[in-house]
Amino acid sequence: MTDAPAEQFQTLTGMRDVLFPESSRRRALVQLFAEVVESAGYRELSPPLLEHLGVFLRVGETTDVVTKEMYDFTDKDGSRIALRPELTAGVVRAFVQHRPLLPWKVWYSGSNFRHERPQKGRYRSFEQVGVEVLGVDDPDLDVEVIALAWRFYTALGLRQVRLLLNTLGEHSDRERYTDAVRAHFEARAADLSEAGRTTLARNPLRVLDSKRPEDRAVVADAPVVADCLSPGAAAHFERVSAGLDALGIPYTEDPRLVRGLDYYRRTTFEFVADALDAAQNAVGGGGRYDRLAEDMGGPPTDGIGFALGVDRILLACDAEGVFPGPDAACDVFVVDLVGGESARDLTHGLRDAGMSADRRFGGGSMKAQMKAADRSGARIAVLVGPDELEAGEVTLRPLRGHAPTAGSAPADAGGGGGREQRRVRRDDLIDELRNEL
Ligand code: HAM
Repeated sequence: MTDAPAEQFQTLTGMRDVLFPESSRRRALVQLFAEVVESAGYRELSPPLLEHLGVFLRVGETTDVVTKEMYDFTDKDGSRIALRPELTAGVVRAFVQHRPLLPWKVWYSGSNFRHERPQKGRYRSFEQVGVEVLGVDDPDLDVEVIALAWRFYTALGLRQVRLLLNTLGEHSDRERYTDAVRAHFEARAADLSEAGRTTLARNPLRVLDSKRPEDRAVVADAPVVADCLSPGAAAHFERVSAGLDALGIPYTEDPRLVRGLDYYRRTTFEFVADALDAAQNAVGGGGRYDRLAEDMGGPPTDGIGFALGVDRILLACDAEGVFPGPDAACDVFVVDLVGGESARDLTHGLRDAGMSADRRFGGGSMKAQMKAADRSGARIAVLVGPDELEAGEVTLRPLRGHAPTAGSAPADAGGGGGREQRRVRRDDLIDELRNEL
């Protein structure tokens, strides 16, 4: 066997390892999301990362997500499968498979895969948190769903997120609108960019989303969906707008908001972070969809949901200087200068008592162990030297500017550099630490 070239031992393009402390910040973000949505009755669903390709084709056979970016391949048994590019299709597949009681309110978190051109905020493996509700037609649900995303951004501390709102109308409205948009762009095809013309041939609505300057000019006077709305769709949209007004959630109506997936109808929305570069500032999006359940062999069922991009949200948090993530430091660090048994037994006992405790393996000098204690971020070091061992005691040394307890006196073990510390009976250690921490 020859050695593989070194580059094979790097992450794939567009994929990243999430190291500490970013990893614990992500976990805290998902935990906060769970709290927000569970308080509204949503329950967690974890669909698999891999599904039959057909599940994802329902996302839209004219979308880039399906035609260009899917990680699809042939499984060992010859079936065509794919890594999920998003979670909505898998949730609807699960709904059709399990037929839960309606309404079905679920939330999820996890990785998705799209073979995109990577840049800051755009990755080939990225994480989303989201919700989906199956089986409710009421526009007040649209308000609830949007309000939950808003509540979550607010709970993170983000202040520069804007909500863009649109409706694509009923299925037939959307078809009429697509025809109107196609006619408009075909008449002005010469003014469009070449990429714009290619998009026009495949999916006219997506041209509305083009960021190219030539296309923007033609998009500016394209028809708006409001001209094609049926009375039912218009009333639905009015009720959603009124609900957001009533809850004090600010939004901008954006008649050109079409979203990148094909399954939407009626309410669509997107959240943009003004603290991020305009090219990758969408930190979440969603809307109503129909036909997904039917397409997968289920009964006609209304659906609505959103997915929020965790990677971009954290970039927005950095840009706004909010949500630094939890303090992951441990409570206690045990410094053992007498052979290691005390470190072994005390860390175990402290963890049994519900505290977080760490130590340095392989012993080492006082200096080396104190350095490790500082690096751990622990608030208190528990020192065991020959004197303490003999007396059945330990020394508590506050770290990280932790205020010493009244009556504490400088002790001898290890030269505390003038910092206040005190000796306590080893049998009392847990109670003493409980008072101190
Ligand atoms: P989406 O707009 O494709 O919608 O993705 C939602 C969010 O995921 C985006 O706003 C963005 O924050 C993040 N995102 C998407 N692609 C990437 C990427 N390559 N790198 C980093 N972040 C990314 C959906 O996925 C729908 N399933 C939303 C939905 C749920 N609609 C109804 N229910």
